[in-house]
Amino acid sequence: FAVGSLTGKRVVITAGPTREAIDPVRYISNHSSGKMGYALAQACIEAGAHVTLISGPVHLPTPDRVQRVNVTSALQMLAASQQALAEGCDMFIATAAVADYRPAAVAEQKIKKQGDEIVIELVKNPDIVATIAQSTPRPFVLGFAAETQYVENYARAKLEAKKLDMIACNDVSRADIGFQSDDNAMTVFWRGGYQKLDKANKSLIARQLVALCVQQLSAINPA
Ligand code: PMT
Repeated sequence: FAVGSLTGKRVVITAGPTREAIDPVRYISNHSSGKMGYALAQACIEAGAHVTLISGPVHLPTPDRVQRVNVTSALQMLAASQQALAEGCDMFIATAAVADYRPAAVAEQKIKKQGDEIVIELVKNPDIVATIAQSTPRPFVLGFAAETQYVENYARAKLEAKKLDMIACNDVSRADIGFQSDDNAMTVFWRGGYQKLDKANKSLIARQLVALCVQQLSAINPA
């Protein structure tokens, strides 16, 4: 990890969960705390980058010098990501745990308790990281893969399907790493290789990840 290795670069990071409203008081979400994304924002600041952190609802302080944009839903996160891209982005890091589906309609009033079963129709959310990876000009794109089984196979498939430059996969079936924990462990894949990052504090994992991104970025765009 080299201090200053991202000097002059603009990094955009998505972090935390999204919340998809069912009615004015209920939503669909997940267990993301934002810790991994915020640790990456801090590591990118230390590397000298200008950082925009597009954050779902979390209980974390904004790291110094980070420009934070608060969002709630996946659609808002996509709009904020596209706006940040339009303002200039060399590297896009998608740590957020974006809801894949949202309720087809948001009830205007609180849904009253009714029969024994209730059906909520869901529609697919846009894929934010895949949308960014398809844009021109295109930043270097690091995606994440949160899996509970066949972790490495699914991660490699996502690298290709979403046209990412790199993917960091973590096993979210483990309680000691992944969601909410202060630690993580991952395998990072790119087309030419992979690197395992052993279990460590998320801030150390973040610095190691940033170092790998810098390495790949300079392999793609030699100075
Ligand atoms: O926040 P923490 O508590 O610290 O936990 C960290 C983490 C476990 C959330 C993080 O390390 C992680 O794995 N983030 C990715 C979570 C996820 O939603 O993974 P996925 O495999 O479902 O999605 C794959 C990639 O596509 C991710 O980069 C995701 O941000 C992106 N995606 C997914 C769906 C969607 N609609 N838009 C997206 O951009």
